[in-house]
Amino acid sequence: MEPMKNDILCVLADEKKLEEICDRLAQQITEDYRDSGRELIFVIVLKGSVFFAADLVRRVPLPCGLEFMKLSSYGSGTATSGFIQVHLDLKRDINGADVVVIEDIIDSGRTLKKLMCLLTDRGAHSVRCCTLLDKPERRQVDMNADYVGMEIPDAFVVGYGLDYDEKYRNLPYVGILKPTVYQK
Ligand code: IMP
Ligand code: MG
Repeated sequence: MEPMKNDILCVLADEKKLEEICDRLAQQITEDYRDSGRELIFVIVLKGSVFFAADLVRRVPLPCGLEFMKLSSYGSGTATSGFIQVHLDLKRDINGADVVVIEDIIDSGRTLKKLMCLLTDRGAHSVRCCTLLDKPERRQVDMNADYVGMEIPDAFVVGYGLDYDEKYRNLPYVGILKPTVYQK
């Protein structure tokens, strides 16, 4: 981890904090869906939310399905391009199901807003979002997650699945990337 660590300004959520977040959110989700009587499907948004999703869903002791989607709103930079593409879509029908989208971070909110509309249009009974991180200061559209791990300031963060130019995903914590790394 040493070469990557040098690029981190400070740690925002260490491994203990991430575990606490997963415990708390899993408990909330379990309580909310325990008696729904409907099918529960987690839609995991690749790639950033994979570690978070793996840690979260293993703590939810309810029958559920796992589906994956890959979307993009960013190129290799750090600012939103304003449009979203679906690169990988669901492999099944979600009609009548309770869907919980698992996201890594909500920034402008554009990705999530588009995704929630898409899943609602496909006939889900309900669509909620669980995000590890939230940057409320950066919001450009009216969109909030139902379950939020942690609110963070307006800074570019990496680790625990989050990347900069496909790097740093394997850091076991979430940290602020030194601006010198992307201002080069
Ligand atoms: P939004 O559509 O602007 O809310 O962008 C959400 C997506 O942008 C996330 O799923 C991330 O892939 C990416 N993103 C936004 N902020 C960060 C960050 O600080 N670090 C890494 N990726 C980010
Ligand atoms: Mg990303």
